[in-house]
Amino acid sequence: MASEKPLVAVTCTAPVNIAVIKYWGKRDEDLVLPINSSLSVTLHQDQLKTTTTAAISKDFTEDRIWLNGREEDVGQPRLQACLREIRRLARKRRSAGEEDPLPLSLSYKVHIASVNNFPTAAGLASSAAGYACLAYALAQVYGVESDLSEVARRGSGSACRSLYGGFVEWQMGERADGKDSIARQVAPESHWPELRVLILVVSAEKKPMGSTAGMQTSVETSPLLRFRAESVVPARMAEMTRCVWERDFQGFGQLTMKDSNQFHATCLDTFPPISYLSDTSRRIVHLVHRFNAHHGQTKVAYTFDAGPNAVVFTLDDTVPEFVAAVRHCFPPESNGDKFLKGLPVRPAPLSDELRAALDVDPTPGGVKYIIATQVGPGPQTLDDPHAHLLGPDGLPKPAA
Ligand code: DP6
Repeated sequence: MASEKPLVAVTCTAPVNIAVIKYWGKRDEDLVLPINSSLSVTLHQDQLKTTTTAAISKDFTEDRIWLNGREEDVGQPRLQACLREIRRLARKRRSAGEEDPLPLSLSYKVHIASVNNFPTAAGLASSAAGYACLAYALAQVYGVESDLSEVARRGSGSACRSLYGGFVEWQMGERADGKDSIARQVAPESHWPELRVLILVVSAEKKPMGSTAGMQTSVETSPLLRFRAESVVPARMAEMTRCVWERDFQGFGQLTMKDSNQFHATCLDTFPPISYLSDTSRRIVHLVHRFNAHHGQTKVAYTFDAGPNAVVFTLDDTVPEFVAAVRHCFPPESNGDKFLKGLPVRPAPLSDELRAALDVDPTPGGVKYIIATQVGPGPQTLDDPHAHLLGPDGLPKPAA
């Protein structure tokens, strides 16, 4: 067709999310359907994001993917599931007779390149941002406008929550085909401007078991997980939604910590047990509780995923004092000036009263660094063609 361009490329970015009501366990491994609903906060892309370019061309002979500059196996099942699903949605749209903005054949192969703006070595979960970004970019390149929860979810369950900004729930759904297992925004990123997020990057002592394998063993062996999914999470979802809507930090913080603790309790109830928290993680838990006890209220709240890093929620006026407390408990070893990344934090002294209340033997280097961030928006499309990670030949541009 003379009107066809040789290559159509779209570049998007997508955020990381952190669950405050955790997803752990699938009822259907293949369709990635969870045993309970979950709720997360979308983190700002100024600090943490994935950027993905998807390009289609009649000249491509096979689907290919590059992650952080390295070509990866495009045959991995979850990636294949995303590609199959997006092409199915595109075919459905075309057969429904809807106008197709891109006159490119659906049979064309796709090239995908994806990079993170944060080091994978930090142990921060990147699969949620990665698969949300992939779903979002593929949808545009193939002209799909329907709900993308299923596409992202097939890559990684938690990825469907990264399709929206602000506060997001993933409704577990009831149907066996998963059509009602979708992500929905609970409140936009502008809803709670004072909320801040501090990621305490902890030196990983050992490589933890991945989420997929971990939750599979938990579903098979943990009676506590079943109890959690059936009898605890439904009420917590409603309560967390209320806390978010009312900007009730006390309630939000306490429930966030309780849900993180219950998730890690189910890991310990798994057989053989799974342990994601390190000694430093546990020291952070104690620090947070002592900090709150000193103030007589919940001023900071931790949550931990399948690894030792802590994500701490607080309000903007508490950040300087809490960062001073972290510095006191975990004195930076060599990189004092690089200890704090992300949003600027005003230096604050640690009062003698708080120092005494913390009552700790400092652990130098326990926390490698802190990333200060806030609630952020969902995926974005970059209009600037210079942003493309793939050149006109469909191959990754050399890193600048
Ligand atoms: C502890 O979404 O990584 O972060 O669906 O198997 O890819 P898969 O698992 P994944 O699990 C995330 C688990 C968690 C809690 C959460 O994000 O809700």
